[in-house]
Amino acid sequence: MNKEREHWGSRWGFILAAMGSAVGLGNIWRFSYAMGEGGGSTFLIIYLLSVILIGFPVMMIEFAIGRRAQTDAIDAFKKLAPKSFWVIAGGMGVLAAFIILSFYGVIGGWSLKYIFSYLTGGVSGNTETYFTEFVGSTFEPIGWQFLFMGITVAIVMLGVQKGIETSSKWMMPILSILLIVLAGYSLTLGGAGEALTFMFHPDWSAFTDPSVYFAAVGQAFFTLSLGMGIMLTYGSYLSPNEKLTSSAAYIIILDTLFAIIAGLVVFPALFAFDLDPTQGAGLVFIVLPTIFEGISGIGLVVGVAFFILLALAALSSGISLLEVVVAYLIRRLGVSRKLATLGIGFIIFLVGVPSSLSQGAVSIEVFGDPFLDFMDKFSGSLLLPLGGLIVAIYGTWSWKSDELLEHTDLKGVAWAPAFLFFAKFVAPIAILIILVFGMLSW
Ligand code: PHE
Ligand code: NA
Repeated sequence: MNKEREHWGSRWGFILAAMGSAVGLGNIWRFSYAMGEGGGSTFLIIYLLSVILIGFPVMMIEFAIGRRAQTDAIDAFKKLAPKSFWVIAGGMGVLAAFIILSFYGVIGGWSLKYIFSYLTGGVSGNTETYFTEFVGSTFEPIGWQFLFMGITVAIVMLGVQKGIETSSKWMMPILSILLIVLAGYSLTLGGAGEALTFMFHPDWSAFTDPSVYFAAVGQAFFTLSLGMGIMLTYGSYLSPNEKLTSSAAYIIILDTLFAIIAGLVVFPALFAFDLDPTQGAGLVFIVLPTIFEGISGIGLVVGVAFFILLALAALSSGISLLEVVVAYLIRRLGVSRKLATLGIGFIIFLVGVPSSLSQGAVSIEVFGDPFLDFMDKFSGSLLLPLGGLIVAIYGTWSWKSDELLEHTDLKGVAWAPAFLFFAKFVAPIAILIILVFGMLSW
């Protein structure tokens, strides 16, 4: 029992792993479809504000709680604030990780399928029909989902450092270069003007719609892996003398750049080919193949490369989701890492099956949304902001301002008062208001 806790090999090991968790399907798949549905620029502005004003403070507090407690999300709250209700936040985090991974595995599986498609001749015919037929079939998407979950489980079984650090190290630079090149290409396709207006020209009338705030704040939490104890758990693998502020800033800036550049890949092409921005979860799987089709000669190679990188980014996020649940089970039930990972990985796969089926094979709807979209909205826009709210309240009201600054390494820093103001008032109140109105509009 008193085996020493594993720790990161270096500060960069920690930053890379946290980036590995942050950068994933959320930046490319979820960001572009949420932005398409949220009306473009309005969504983007609220999302950016949420990332800076809510995401940054919540991330700092999660890191700080984890580093201090040196244990997983649920135990951290018990340890730092015994016999209090804060532990609910930890429990909700484990639940959120469980739910998110169930459908994340489905989309991860789609990426694997598209790697295979490009290795074997590409996406033939109409890219929309190709996608709809694939996700609408019963067994094939489940098979790919199973494969994705299997790989995720295998990596988590290898343990914290080996599994997570190495895969993030080389994947991210390559993915960013490919995205930038693709964005450059996409902007030449003839839809640049329309896309830039859609993305960056604010439509002030749309700011009165509460559902856009709900979606944008949810996206901020989802994309930064916040509100569910992931960053908390990663922080717990930090030795107590590592610095937090710059790490959080790097992670947030990088994650945001990935999303915006992905938008610059998707939307110019989308408008150039007259596709519909509000078509939902299939957006990138329909638009990107259309781009690759047009690249004469090397379209297939680019397609393979892109979907391999997307799958890798998805894997490093999937690993972090599974890690939250596994870390909890190991400590709670005292089972081995191997058993916990295999067992819970399989259960999460099973829970994901209805999400996969809901994309056309079988009609499974909750509140008028297909099951996958419902799980996505429920966890991303509801559980994560709620978890983040509790984390923010915990950090700012149970620790005195002075302690909070000390635990986040901000003591004596010039902008410490601003941080306190946003962490204590702006972030919690904004989350609360948006949750209430979001729920009402849902
Ligand atoms: N942040 C990841 C992404 O953008 C998804 C994720 C959400 C991972 C929550 C962990 C926790 O793809
Ligand atoms: Na992300």
